[in-house]
Amino acid sequence: MLQALLETLDRDARQRNDWGQVASYIPELASIDPAQFAISVCTVDGQEYHAGDVQVPFSIQSVSKVFTLALALGRLGGRLWERVGREPSGRAFNSIVQLEREQGIPRNPFINAGAIVTTDAVLGQRAPRETLGEILSFLREAADDSDVHINEYVARSEQRTGDRNYALAHFLRSCGNLHNDCDRALGTYFHHCAIEMTTVQLARAARFLCGGFRGHRMIGIERVRSINALMMTCGHYDGSGEFAYRVGFPGKSGVGGGIMAVVPNVASIAVWSPGLDQYGNSKQGTKALESLSKATGWSVF
Ligand code: DON
Repeated sequence: MLQALLETLDRDARQRNDWGQVASYIPELASIDPAQFAISVCTVDGQEYHAGDVQVPFSIQSVSKVFTLALALGRLGGRLWERVGREPSGRAFNSIVQLEREQGIPRNPFINAGAIVTTDAVLGQRAPRETLGEILSFLREAADDSDVHINEYVARSEQRTGDRNYALAHFLRSCGNLHNDCDRALGTYFHHCAIEMTTVQLARAARFLCGGFRGHRMIGIERVRSINALMMTCGHYDGSGEFAYRVGFPGKSGVGGGIMAVVPNVASIAVWSPGLDQYGNSKQGTKALESLSKATGWSVF
């Protein structure tokens, strides 16, 4: 039944033919064909279901912030919350204005400023290469797949056009909330955003946030709950309320068009369609998750 449903979602997305706009501020992503769609679901009883362009790797972008958050919490524990908040921002993912008003403490770990801080925390005093190795190892272990890599062209493309993230990083540093220099912190940040995965790999990687999967307890249940709470309230930036209303379970989006979502104790999900809505979240990906939750009754509410 689930397989047939995913195939219907794939067909519906293609029939609507209303893909949204691909992210153009990262030149390497601007040339991607928006007319693509993939969805993968792993259920806690060990079954997997896939439909659409599930073998095409895409840039996970801000979805990577979930994994850096898990690692930052592992390193700093509760002290991380002295440097970054846990409230929705109600603003765009790359907004600058709130950061000055709030003395360089980003609202949450998923807006760019917050993710630059968590990246800085994971870096500590280590080399970026070692830190990126740790992030990749975590992802590969979570996905049970060693074929997860960084796309250097995407990382460099964003570095070249990353003036806004540089502005955020410099401001954070002026407030004492960035311990590494801006190039080091941002170099690491751009590279983990440039990790590529398929929906098959990403749905498998999300199992550690789901509970109920055997052998995927990579972090404690309390931390799983904290991360899911943040995905629910902040995972879609100024579209987070709308996502909670329409979909009803935690999810994290990226400007590459991916969304990783979790139905606690039931299933982990990845959907990808590169065209975005006005908030920078996948247009057909969100629509498909909304239809999936309606058809299955999956919801945390
Ligand atoms: O820093 C950026 O702007 C990108 N590397 C990530 C932004 C992103 O994915 C926002 N998500 N919807």
